[in-house]
Amino acid sequence: MLLQNEDRAEDILQRVKEIWMGNTALLATTTSLVFLLLCWIIRDSIKIKNVHEKYVLITGCDTGFGNLLAQRLHRKGFGVIAACFTEKGCQELIACTSPSMKTVILNVTNPKSIDEAVQFVAAETGSKGLYGLVNNAGRATPIGPTDWLDMEDFHRVLDVNLIGLIEVTLKFLPLLKKAKGRVVNVASVMGRLAFGGGGYSLSKWGVESFSDSLRRDMQHFGVRVSIIEPGFFKTGVTNLEVIEKDLNRLWNRLTPDVKTAYGEKYFDNYLKVQKLSMNTFCDADISKVTNCMEHALTARFPRTRYGAGWDAKFFWLPLSYAPAAVADIMLKLLLPRPTGIKKSLAKNQIDV
Ligand SMILES: NC(=O)c1ccc[n+]([C@@H]2O[C@H](COP(=O)([O-])OP(=O)(O)OC[C@H]3O[C@@H](n4cnc5c(N)ncnc54)[C@H](OP(=O)(O)O)[C@@H]3O)[C@@H](O)[C@H]2O)c1
Repeated sequence: MLLQNEDRAEDILQRVKEIWMGNTALLATTTSLVFLLLCWIIRDSIKIKNVHEKYVLITGCDTGFGNLLAQRLHRKGFGVIAACFTEKGCQELIACTSPSMKTVILNVTNPKSIDEAVQFVAAETGSKGLYGLVNNAGRATPIGPTDWLDMEDFHRVLDVNLIGLIEVTLKFLPLLKKAKGRVVNVASVMGRLAFGGGGYSLSKWGVESFSDSLRRDMQHFGVRVSIIEPGFFKTGVTNLEVIEKDLNRLWNRLTPDVKTAYGEKYFDNYLKVQKLSMNTFCDADISKVTNCMEHALTARFPRTRYGAGWDAKFFWLPLSYAPAAVADIMLKLLLPRPTGIKKSLAKNQIDV
């Protein structure tokens, strides 16, 4: 009896020991994770000093993210040089900020225009160099099913979003190196998950890889590179009127064969889906994007990538990590299907 009791007591003691040991491991793991998270939050919130002595050039400041960022950095005391595509853009920006806001006309697809902007910025910044370059200028159209497009359509987007961005970066690098500055490149969730057809996704994938190479090469010179990956926001590039007008142009120039393969109702359904997805996904609060840009410029330790917007964080970016088959199914559910493929095949067989 006494022996039995001793065995039971030992069992209980063993169980208690196991639970305690298990909990201790759990407690230690949780404490370490909380500690690491706290360290990361503190590190992430440390800011740089002396913003009044720093110059930032932002491209595409006429409207949208660039325009808002220019206003906010100007208010913070940065020496902002806002590069606008049009004279009207420059004047409107000065009117809504102050005459001390510096502006310059810049077409990122025109080498001469870039050279002139470099000269202007070099004269403005003097021995300080350029602290920040925000490559923000961009366009989305033409965008649409791949077989609706020709090479000119691809060039129109790639020339601005990728080739223009690369040329601007290369030409400003000497000034950025001088200031041990920062490059902030605006990509997109569509640079992580390709859909929609046309040059847009291609250009943003290019921006992602160019930025990765640039970051690795420039780290030795103290130049940091960050990538902004916004989801969908209400701005010029998501303007439904512009997108619809361009889709009409693409649809109207298709050959009868291609039109038959897509079916009569396809175009209307495609427009409906565009409308529905833009209205569902597009966020009007564009400060979610400019906050990321500001962090990349003002944090002591800028992040490499910033996902901006709830749709980016919880839908598009996670989906980009999913197996291609899963992403294909999700995107197939979002887009309409061509309905005239059989009709078109039958017609082609008769023709043959
Ligand atoms: N809005 C979104 O949902 C979203 C999502 C992901 C990424 N982005 C990216 O964010 C960046 C800013 O776009 P946004 O959304 O703010 O749209 P936006 O208001 O249209 O801003 C883009 C600006 O770039 C200018 N631009 C166009 N072609 C140019 C050229 N050749 N040279 C210089 N500037 C030029 C545009 O001028 P004009 O208006 O006169 O053409 C416009 O002011 C773009 O790179 C875009 O791809 C936007």
